[in-house]
Amino acid sequence: MNKLCLLGLVVSLASQSAYADTSAAPLQDKQAFIANLIKQMTLDEKIGQLRLISIGPEMPREMIRKEIAAGRIGGTFNSITRAENRPMQDAAAKSRLKIPMFFAYDVIHGHRTIFPISLGLAASWDMDAIAKVGRVSALEAASDGIDMTFAPMVDIARDPRWGRTSEGFGEDTYLVSRISKVMVESFQGQSPAAPTSLMAAVKHFALYGAVEGGRDYNTVDMSPTKMFNDYLPPYRAAIDAGAGGVMVALNSINGVPATSNTWLMNDLLRKDWGFKGVTVSDHGAITELVRHGVARDGREAAKLAIKAGIDLSMNDSLYGEELASLLKAGEVDQADIDNAVREVLGAKYDMGLFEDPYRRIGKASDDPADTYADSRLHRAEARDVARRSLVLLENRKQTLPLKKAGTIALVGPLADAPIDMMGSWAAAGRPHQSITVREGMRQVLGDKAKVIYAKGSNVTHDKAILDYLNFLNFDAPEIVDDPRPAAVLIDEAVKAAKQSDVVVAVVGESRGMSHESSSRTTLEIPAAQRELIKALKATGKPLVLVLMNGRPLSLAWEREQADAILETWFSGTEGGNAIADVLFGDYNPSGKLAITFPRSVGQIPMYYNHLSIGRPFTPGKPGNYTSQYFEEPNGPLYPFGYGLSYSDFSLSNLSLSSKTVKQGQDLDASIVVKNTGKRDGETVVQLYLQDVTASMSRPIKELKNFHKVMLKAGEERTLHFTIKADDLKFYNGQLQWAAEPGEFRVQVGLDSQAVQQQSFELL
Ligand code: NOJ
Repeated sequence: MNKLCLLGLVVSLASQSAYADTSAAPLQDKQAFIANLIKQMTLDEKIGQLRLISIGPEMPREMIRKEIAAGRIGGTFNSITRAENRPMQDAAAKSRLKIPMFFAYDVIHGHRTIFPISLGLAASWDMDAIAKVGRVSALEAASDGIDMTFAPMVDIARDPRWGRTSEGFGEDTYLVSRISKVMVESFQGQSPAAPTSLMAAVKHFALYGAVEGGRDYNTVDMSPTKMFNDYLPPYRAAIDAGAGGVMVALNSINGVPATSNTWLMNDLLRKDWGFKGVTVSDHGAITELVRHGVARDGREAAKLAIKAGIDLSMNDSLYGEELASLLKAGEVDQADIDNAVREVLGAKYDMGLFEDPYRRIGKASDDPADTYADSRLHRAEARDVARRSLVLLENRKQTLPLKKAGTIALVGPLADAPIDMMGSWAAAGRPHQSITVREGMRQVLGDKAKVIYAKGSNVTHDKAILDYLNFLNFDAPEIVDDPRPAAVLIDEAVKAAKQSDVVVAVVGESRGMSHESSSRTTLEIPAAQRELIKALKATGKPLVLVLMNGRPLSLAWEREQADAILETWFSGTEGGNAIADVLFGDYNPSGKLAITFPRSVGQIPMYYNHLSIGRPFTPGKPGNYTSQYFEEPNGPLYPFGYGLSYSDFSLSNLSLSSKTVKQGQDLDASIVVKNTGKRDGETVVQLYLQDVTASMSRPIKELKNFHKVMLKAGEERTLHFTIKADDLKFYNGQLQWAAEPGEFRVQVGLDSQAVQQQSFELL
């Protein structure tokens, strides 16, 4: 927590407190208050504070309350109403020292109102929109009695086979770091103690996005320079922005599991980065140390975790079972336990819970009459943000925007699938409250045009995949399969297409296909839907593909079939309205990809900022002995930063304020951007740098800044970028953060490939 927030908290603190003996240390002095409390705690009570349990079928509620009253639980997660949390806080008030509980939840891209999945939010490149998501999510969750979110998830993802690619903000270090800061600041607001704020626990520390082969929970092996230059900065950005918590990753890093990784949590996080908050293990991760093969048994696992610096243990009984005897045997020190307890109590303090345990729970008489009431949603905000996240990938012959007239065939298994609109980790969102594309079209068109709907195909023909996806959801089937034969479904869609002026097909992945543990071996749209696309194409009608998916898909074939492609991710509660706004031109699309779309799964890993190599492939100059695949065109299908608009934009006159710069000095780069189209619109002007020659190979380009600008039709503007001294630095072979003299290339473009270029020399 920053100093200003702390000051605000201290001023607002009541001088009286209900906690046992506070005469020695009033509530105003955090360190003294906590030290005094720890002095009064029994070993059992201390160990109890380190226990974070899930509210679910594992333990009956009554038993949970008993455990809390006995001082044996520090916090819970997965309860999502004030009425659920109040009795647990009441139980804590009955415990000997009355230490308050805290309540956590995975509020990732919304709470009751669901915004686009994180990968979609990143595609907005719009920090104000993203801040709105964080604020609304915090407001909604806090008013449901929640104190902490396990977010933001800032794992860099460069292997789209990984299902959790959907949960993060893409492949780029700079963009993800910017978003990481904005998310933490907006979740925590003025202070994590505010009744309308959540404490942010950034995750998954660290490098979880780099699991080998994109297979979830797999191992991570990475060079130190790649770690420090590419993968660690987004977590650091969250810490610097004041994140109160850190969730530790499930993977190992160069052979050492994060959960037992002293270097990671102690040396890097606490000593080098100065983190002062609470660390929490991921679900069951301490027990998994045995399966990782670094602990002989549960006893050793508990010892490794506490010694490495895991404060809170998530849904894991080992601290409870082993810490007391480890202490007695002298294998764990009192200080190991006390340090963890201090951080847990510190987090509760920072969340304002010692001042008022009911800060976010409030009085029962103030509970919402209907927790699920539509009036509690932030629909206008959701629609605004969702529109900004959509990326127009193709638009031949100006197929889009569509006219609000004539007849439109709306087909595809995702055209009317409320649950899929919300994407994975949809918190407390309710599927029936989300607007599907079908419903959005109905609302936006009224009776101006006729829409003929036909499902056209199921998500997949594959029964085993269907069973897997439906197994992911305990409450209801994720995918409702239409029992009619595939040919019948397709015929119905083709008939609709033939009667229409244009076909809109909503296809892609169901939400469970881009989720935790949903890694894929292919990036293709399932065959059932590809057969539908083929049949629709054969009708000769203009074909618009509206894609729903949580990872890059390989779309080389689809690109040939479709006249227009709109990437919509999983766009949330108001997704259908937002998509209809773009399809019918009420909103001019402005999103840009935050992750590269490869042509095929075989190209992975494919990300724009790879290191320079000795035999690079030169586009347009195929030949032997260059770095390429010979079976298909090289390079991505859609590069990082790419996205079309209904307007056209041009860039000209890239110029630098100087051809040389001294160490420590800034430089100005300016460029003229013009809207050459007939509509007002927004675009993102992106600035990349390349350190041409250095002590080690450096990326061919790296995003260092961007401006999102709105320009009226015909409007022209000169944009300025400050290239700061720090933008030239990197972690070298000795892990020193330094800039090396020599040539730097400045590249500015509307995506990462088509750029203008100038050079300067660092003296
Ligand atoms: C496991 C997931 O890996 C993590 O992201 C999540 O926060 C926890 N479960 C709690 O739901």
